[in-house]
Amino acid sequence: MAMSAFQRKNGILHVENVSLLEMARQLPTPFYCYSLTSFADRYRVVREAFASHAIQPRIAYAVKANGLLPCLATLSSLQCHADIVSEGEMHRCLRAAIEPERIIFSGVGKTFEEITNALHHGIGQFNVESAEELHTLAEIASQQQTRAAVALRVNPDIHAPTHDKIATARRDDKFGIAPELIPSLCRLIADHEYLQWRGLAVHLGSQIFSHELYGEAARALLALDQELVNQSLPPSPQFDLGGGIGCSPQKEIDLAAYAHQLSAVMDRPFVIEPGRFIAAPSGILVSRVVRIKHAKPHSFVIVDAAMNDLLRPALYGGHHPLETIAAPAQQTMSCHVVGPICESSDTFLRDVTLPHLQAGDYVAFMHSGAYGAVMASSYNTRPLVSEVCAQKNHWAISKKSVPVQDMLTCEEIPSWLPS
Ligand code: LLP
Repeated sequence: MAMSAFQRKNGILHVENVSLLEMARQLPTPFYCYSLTSFADRYRVVREAFASHAIQPRIAYAVKANGLLPCLATLSSLQCHADIVSEGEMHRCLRAAIEPERIIFSGVGKTFEEITNALHHGIGQFNVESAEELHTLAEIASQQQTRAAVALRVNPDIHAPTHDKIATARRDDKFGIAPELIPSLCRLIADHEYLQWRGLAVHLGSQIFSHELYGEAARALLALDQELVNQSLPPSPQFDLGGGIGCSPQKEIDLAAYAHQLSAVMDRPFVIEPGRFIAAPSGILVSRVVRIKHAKPHSFVIVDAAMNDLLRPALYGGHHPLETIAAPAQQTMSCHVVGPICESSDTFLRDVTLPHLQAGDYVAFMHSGAYGAVMASSYNTRPLVSEVCAQKNHWAISKKSVPVQDMLTCEEIPSWLPS
């Protein structure tokens, strides 16, 4: 496991060599703070897990986890590839100098316009999720007289033991194509002038800690590929095993076992698409205590971050431990930690024992670098949270929060509405 980029020095929490106390005193809270060194290190850890194996996979970082430009630029400089799910994410990657050939376009709902623009930009691979999408892609590729490289995402009906909302490979999930439909679609691709067969893809879901399950998915792809060969169809030139590598504050997948498992099964080039594993431990959400509400049986620590800034606890029961930014007090308190939003799901931590806190103290929700800022909203007319990057002794605001007055410039009261 790479060492965390968030360490205490003289009791004060730092990001790399930068004091988070000094940073927090200069910025409006809440804000996310990322360590770019951690992004690079986590990527290298994944790459090195395969170093002793015969095949080194292409690592396509799942941009949806955290697509902030400096984070992408850091990964791009290490020759990382990217997995995207929207035209917006494509533009992020291009801005971060990830060449179009290094980009895989996934997702069940790519629109006609998105496919057109992605093909026009030379996106390297489309992971197609339905027969209908394949027909649209074929039509656009013919119109543009441009060859689209196509992988077919299979729905293998594998039930990953993860949160219901992030398991994606069960028969009734919206993702992937039923195995029995694959041969005819493969035939369509093989016979089409403007489609190029890239092979089979799968994504089991997110937060998967069982390396054996990846072995199962890999074997499912191989078996289906053999079925193609049996039907005189072209075999998969490569496979895409998707992302989902589990990583939480308490545990991580056994990465060596994961690499071993895949390498033992894979007999040709393959892609993996980690997102959270690289991003989650590389970021925190910094917030300030607004007040302590003394109540029974628990007091409430009310912070200025809320579920609109970090949705994971409300949506998936996600656990983001709290650390104080200043040296933690000796005395402790038992409390709930909540945000200011007007619903009870705006609760970060329930029934925890923390170092004693008071109004004005800065705190950090750890392990928030993935699916944090990217899932933020402006619920309760709260400005979108800002984001800061740090590396060694440097730090910079990478994404400013949009002030409420600017947000309101996008809204209008129609003239026909009586005032
Ligand atoms: N590849 C595909 C096709 C995906 O759909 C995903 C994630 C990934 C790769 C990356 O998965 P990761 O390695 O990051 O687990 N918002 C949820 C997670 C949703 C994941 C969606 N797909 C959360 O906060 O837990």
